[in-house]
Amino acid sequence: MRRIAVITGASSGIGEAIARTLTREGWACVLVARREERLRALADEIGAEIEVCDVGDRAAVEALAARVLERHPTLHLLVNNAGMPARGTFLEVDLDLVEEVMRVNYLGGVWCSRMLQPGLEAGAKAGGAHIVNLVSVAGTVSFAPAGAYAASKHAQLAYSRSLGAALHDSSIQVHSVLPGFVETEGFPQKKVLKSRLLRSFVIEADDVANTVVKAIEKGKSECVVPWFPYRLVGIAQAVAPGLVARFVGMSAHRGESV
Ligand SMILES: NC(=O)c1ccc[n+]([C@@H]2O[C@H](COP(=O)([O-])OP(=O)(O)OC[C@H]3O[C@@H](n4cnc5c(N)ncnc54)[C@H](OP(=O)(O)O)[C@@H]3O)[C@@H](O)[C@H]2O)c1
Repeated sequence: MRRIAVITGASSGIGEAIARTLTREGWACVLVARREERLRALADEIGAEIEVCDVGDRAAVEALAARVLERHPTLHLLVNNAGMPARGTFLEVDLDLVEEVMRVNYLGGVWCSRMLQPGLEAGAKAGGAHIVNLVSVAGTVSFAPAGAYAASKHAQLAYSRSLGAALHDSSIQVHSVLPGFVETEGFPQKKVLKSRLLRSFVIEADDVANTVVKAIEKGKSECVVPWFPYRLVGIAQAVAPGLVARFVGMSAHRGESV
């Protein structure tokens, strides 16, 4: 029997790459996002199911979970990947955007995990289940030019680590994947990054998808991708938070175009 994976934010970028990679590895995927046409085109190509849902809407996630669990009472993997940018410092960012980014990047994953928990518990009994949270290096580094985004990712990482600890003695493993800059539709890094040095570290969505598969296969609780230089920046921020946040912020985005 094929293992079942639910992937949020599968209509583009990293989520799409994860869906393609998992399908090649033999998983059956349920693709979740808001843009139905994009989901349908990918699903037709790779042979997956789709679910249209705004993960930032708690009632919508509840309805999604009911539909998925009716078809698949046993789930083996949930990838909480749906996410959005929120550019601008806390001095200027639209306050509605601050709320939205918390709902989508942080709460969406919390709701999906809780509401799909019965399926994952059934998967755990049937040999093991996994939750992968697509966080970001912005979960460990306070990035001033995208302050609300960094705050949402700090919250998401705290949730992911805390859920992992709560499930430590169970057969549901929690994995936090922290990519650095990745070139995607929502995050066109090569265009928006000001520093040539930072642009040289931009990776592709497939690199992240491969890391997700490795994290699951090797049981890794936390993966930074690529390890260099981002893990070091995270450590530096822990040691000298104010200094590193200022330095990283200065070398970041190209003015208003982001
Ligand atoms: N690219 C980077 O540099 C980078 C680095 C670190 C971490 N990440 C994280 O990786 C994840 C994927 O981002 P990406 O780079 O692949 O960007 P992307 O290409 O813009 O993809 C974002 C995905 O999330 C979905 N999404 C957004 N809001 C949603 C909502 N309210 N409900 C349901 N789905 C929603 C989008 O689909 P619809 O618009 O169709 O709903 C899309 O499929 C995000 O969590 C992001 O924070 C990205």
